[in-house]
Amino acid sequence: MILFRFLVPLAFVLSLLAYFLLPQTDRLFLSWSESDLQLRSRLVFSSVEESLPEVFTPQDERRLTHRLTQFAQEGGIVGIGYCAGGGRPKYRNSDFPSDIRCPSTAPLKPVFKKQKSKNGRVLIATFPIKDLQTGKVSSASNMLLVVHDMAYAEKRSTNTQRYLLWFVLGVSLIAATVIVIASRLALRRWILTVRDFVRTGQRTKGLPRETISITREIQQRIRKLEREQQRLQLWCAQWSAESLYDFISNNLPSEQIIAVSYREPYVHGKTSKGLSWTTPVSGLVSALEPIMKACRGTWVAVSSGDADRDAADEKGILMVPPNAPCYRLKRLWLTKEQETGFYEGFANEGLWPLCSLVFVKPRFRASDWETYRDVNRMFLDAIVAEAKTSSPIVFIQDYHFGLLPRMVRERFPDAVIVIFWHITWPNSETLSILPWREEFLESLLAADIVGFHTQQLCNNFLDCVDAHIEALVDREHDTVRHGDDFCMIRPYPISIAWPDFQALGVPSLSACRDEIVSMLNLDPKNKIVLGVERMDYIKGIPERLRAFDAFLEQHSEWKGKVSFVQIASPSRSAIRAYADVDREVEGIAAAVNAKYGREGWTPVCLLKKTFTQADVYRFYRAADVCIVSSLHDGMNLVAKEFVAGRDDNRGVLILSQFSGSSRELVDAVIVNPYDEIGLTRSIERALTMGPEEQEARMKSMREHTKAHNVFAWAAQILDDAGRLHQRRRLNELLKKEKNFNVSEEEGEAS
Ligand code: G6P
Repeated sequence: MILFRFLVPLAFVLSLLAYFLLPQTDRLFLSWSESDLQLRSRLVFSSVEESLPEVFTPQDERRLTHRLTQFAQEGGIVGIGYCAGGGRPKYRNSDFPSDIRCPSTAPLKPVFKKQKSKNGRVLIATFPIKDLQTGKVSSASNMLLVVHDMAYAEKRSTNTQRYLLWFVLGVSLIAATVIVIASRLALRRWILTVRDFVRTGQRTKGLPRETISITREIQQRIRKLEREQQRLQLWCAQWSAESLYDFISNNLPSEQIIAVSYREPYVHGKTSKGLSWTTPVSGLVSALEPIMKACRGTWVAVSSGDADRDAADEKGILMVPPNAPCYRLKRLWLTKEQETGFYEGFANEGLWPLCSLVFVKPRFRASDWETYRDVNRMFLDAIVAEAKTSSPIVFIQDYHFGLLPRMVRERFPDAVIVIFWHITWPNSETLSILPWREEFLESLLAADIVGFHTQQLCNNFLDCVDAHIEALVDREHDTVRHGDDFCMIRPYPISIAWPDFQALGVPSLSACRDEIVSMLNLDPKNKIVLGVERMDYIKGIPERLRAFDAFLEQHSEWKGKVSFVQIASPSRSAIRAYADVDREVEGIAAAVNAKYGREGWTPVCLLKKTFTQADVYRFYRAADVCIVSSLHDGMNLVAKEFVAGRDDNRGVLILSQFSGSSRELVDAVIVNPYDEIGLTRSIERALTMGPEEQEARMKSMREHTKAHNVFAWAAQILDDAGRLHQRRRLNELLKKEKNFNVSEEEGEAS
């Protein structure tokens, strides 16, 4: 290949050269040969002229012919003739070409002329012969013709051209071979030195300076690949609550894990029979619960049940789950003002729309910001009260606690702090509208790990840090150095715990279908399209209802044959944008029902209530299509739950391209929720999809979700946190004993 690459261009260039040079050399050779022949003709003439008196004294013609033949033979000449006027030479050698004639008048000096004769191309030299008496030449003088054969000169020129051509070919071949061998040797040496450098990191002699950056890049890529490989190994293991428990016991045996979230995992209420408890339907809660069960740590959260105080001790602490206690729950109570400023205000009217790209204007009030800070400090106090060591692992959840990492770091410099951002993160331009963006970012960077669902969100965060504060952003390792803080930004796509329907008390698919059909009074033959959400403007509920309206409009054959069941559990209703979307959804549902509904068929069943997890799974198992048309969503676990619910490998998932789960569930019918026509088409596509295609898509999504479950998510985060913990301890030890500090970047890089 290399030979070919070198040889062809080289041969081409040399052939081009030969093409232009060969005619020149030909001309040169011919003119050399001609002058040579002219010289030889002159010599012949001189020797003939010298012996002229002797040669041309009258004698018999036979003798003269013989003499001239002798001259011709000695000189290797074709013809030599003596002319006394025009016509055939008077005397000539025996082989004198018959078609060559003497000029009628003599030239005054020798004349050379090329001519074609019967003998081929010849050079005719015409010499005037001086008058013997006067010693002069005139036009009446006699002449001597010397005829030379030019064939040999032409032959010589052809030969020369041929030799030259062979020479060019030979040179190209030799040059190409030499170049190839030399470059191979050089390349081999270069590869060996680069390989050494990549392996050892030591720069050996002979490694050109300019290749150092390439080799560094290779090293970095290898490191990144190794990291991904480790990550993959963790992900590929089939994680379960038990294996996570073992993992935590083996890897973090002496570490105390304190989790922080706004929502609590258990809510206590009062009934006529006494205390009762429920678990909230929240992706975050279902993700965190197995970790807490496995690590038996402490979970700090805001109380939300009216009997919460009765179920806890005077410090707000109780052991949960209530039916199998194994970890501590510490409840905090917020005042009405705190709820308003912290939860409704800064968190949900400010940060939520700021982070979600859905074009709802965020509201930032200075008083909300202050309350947000106060509530974050309340959580710090709870952590301080709960911490049994100076270096706990503090696992903070979501946008409610953006100021907590800095507070914890100041109080526990050796803690390992992880904050996981369950929602999306904006780009740097959007973040610039947050009046306290610098403080906010600087606080987050006090964490050791800031986790997001996708790499895209990590990139957004790094862009924001780059744009808004003075910090060293390392895009290679996705880390940020800010003052004394060193923070890793990592994607950890959250997932669900694979459901155990027996344990949940969820019946078979057909039983679920029967239950839902009878609960909603549906026609059993009808197809069911399902949506399950909180009533939130980011979920795109109005968009999908409008698309359903358009679908019925365009496909009247489906009228009476399909029902859209939308679960929209009430959420944040004190906030105007939520009240607005609630009204809008109500309005569209009512309008669609009024437009198409008839006796025995309600096109849209809007269920504005909160269902238990087991009930939600009943809906998933009863539906033919599940539609997740979020306008923007960090992950969206409804999509994963629907897939997990379908052990019949049937059902179609329509999934928004703006949800994090669309990165993983690539076999869903992916839609742009803003594109009403596309959304309408996708409903039609889902309702008419054949069983084989449904099965192929569903199987692949189920395999992925089963393997990448929430325990794998937790293991990944805790694994990274545990490593950091160990490194920090080692650092401390080295600092104390040898007064030597191990660079965290070096540690990370290796
Ligand atoms: C999202 C957030 C969670 C939040 C949940 C329910 O999933 O990431 O932090 O708990 O919504 O919202 P709510 O305001 O009812 O807690």
